[in-house]
Amino acid sequence: AQENARIKIDIDRQIGTINENIYGNFVEHLGRCVYGGIYDPDSPLSDENGIRTDVLEAAKGLNIPLTRYPGGNFVSNYHWKDGVGPKQDRPPRMELAWERLETNQFGTNEFIDYAKQLGTEPYFAVNLGTGTIKEAQEWVEYCNVKEGPYYAELRKKHGYPEPHNIKYWSLGNEMDGFWQMGHLNAEDYSKKAREAAKLMRLTDPNIELIAAGASNFRPGSDPHEWNATVLAELRDVVDYIALHMYVGNHQDNYYNFVSSPLVLEERTQVVKGMIQREMEKANRGDRDPIYIAWDEYNIWYRWRQDETMSGERALEERYNLEDALVIAGFLNAFIRNADIVKMANMAQLVNVIAPIFAEKDAMFKQTIYYPLQLFANNMFGTALDAYVDCETYDTDEFFLGLAEQATQQSNVPYLDVSAAYQNGEVVIGVVNRHLDKAISTDIISQEGLFDGEFEVFEVNGSDIKAENDFDKTNVETEQKDTLKVKKSEQFTYAFPPHSFTLLKGKIV
Ligand code: AHR
Repeated sequence: AQENARIKIDIDRQIGTINENIYGNFVEHLGRCVYGGIYDPDSPLSDENGIRTDVLEAAKGLNIPLTRYPGGNFVSNYHWKDGVGPKQDRPPRMELAWERLETNQFGTNEFIDYAKQLGTEPYFAVNLGTGTIKEAQEWVEYCNVKEGPYYAELRKKHGYPEPHNIKYWSLGNEMDGFWQMGHLNAEDYSKKAREAAKLMRLTDPNIELIAAGASNFRPGSDPHEWNATVLAELRDVVDYIALHMYVGNHQDNYYNFVSSPLVLEERTQVVKGMIQREMEKANRGDRDPIYIAWDEYNIWYRWRQDETMSGERALEERYNLEDALVIAGFLNAFIRNADIVKMANMAQLVNVIAPIFAEKDAMFKQTIYYPLQLFANNMFGTALDAYVDCETYDTDEFFLGLAEQATQQSNVPYLDVSAAYQNGEVVIGVVNRHLDKAISTDIISQEGLFDGEFEVFEVNGSDIKAENDFDKTNVETEQKDTLKVKKSEQFTYAFPPHSFTLLKGKIV
């Protein structure tokens, strides 16, 4: 008979504290993410401020600790002053990144109000493309200075007597990308970022700054060189380096596609090494070392690229079960690297490559909503280094995504596992990548005994191409029967084919 796979859980083998900000999200002025997504005064489902209440409720289910705003590529030509003050006075602008008219009817203060309703912390990106370092400083002044200087007083005049106290600020977006307005080389970016950081910190010393890491992995680019330069130049100044990754099942090969989170993990390790090297030389006072922020990640996109690259319905994607498994894989990878990955933001919240999809009169939750919801509501505490012994496979050489080189993965385990421990409770997340085989697995505790009931949540569907829509939910989280676990050092569970399972129970 075939032997069971094994997952060994050892509460003493700790990777690091899970920062809940890895369950962050992202709202960009792009397509129908803001206008027609979170904000739609013309929808019957919106409140008196134009906020889509059904979208807000769905977003609340994701328990989002941190939300990045207002872009993305958008930010490289965004001038924040256009979006504050009386709405009738705000200038419409040509939006050059995604080609639609920016009416500026939604801006800084509308987003702050939205974030309060959602219960999320705002994370702002400044314009280091066409924007100036002065403009970045003035935005910090507007948001974070209580009173006195011009922009703090202007905020008060706009109806916000108390400062917004925005803690997280990123220094531009994807500045290595030739597609970025105001694109710079690594040296010039670092200089501009350092000067912007200086002015922003003089305005508010409590802010945390995120440098734009490499996003361009196309053949011919040199992402490692970009990261090395930025880290060397900004090692005393920034708190995070931002990395981005989008993958897609471009060749319609399931096994290749579901292995793609392993590439994110490889890149995490490479950048971690670069950070460690720079931290030895850094002069950071009592600041933490630099951490990694995967502040854009998702699946983007396969079928409709030409029609939806820009404009009103830019980047609208429909997701299926295999996409949900890749998202679970990304989240597992963040947990397995919890010592260095302290922030991550799914891109984006609604309509634009998003877990929530809305039209004027209805919305639905896409498949990728469910793994994120499970992690963001359950996986906290200390990340554990779980040992996994199961069958593996090799992929072909395959093309990961838009700004990506080809890759090939060997020895990909069919079971992709992460684990966390908090207050005597262990949470185990398992993707079974196997297409048609349930994998019977002994789950073994190395220290302490499993005891009592294990809650079991499963994201699955009839087939890997199953999608959700307004009138059908083919893929969602099913809470299975509770597993009764006798006081023992092991129990056995069969992970169904093409599924994500989250197990939650006690170790005593
Ligand atoms: O999330 C969509 C886009 O992807 C963002 O605007 C940009 O930063 C990235 O290229």
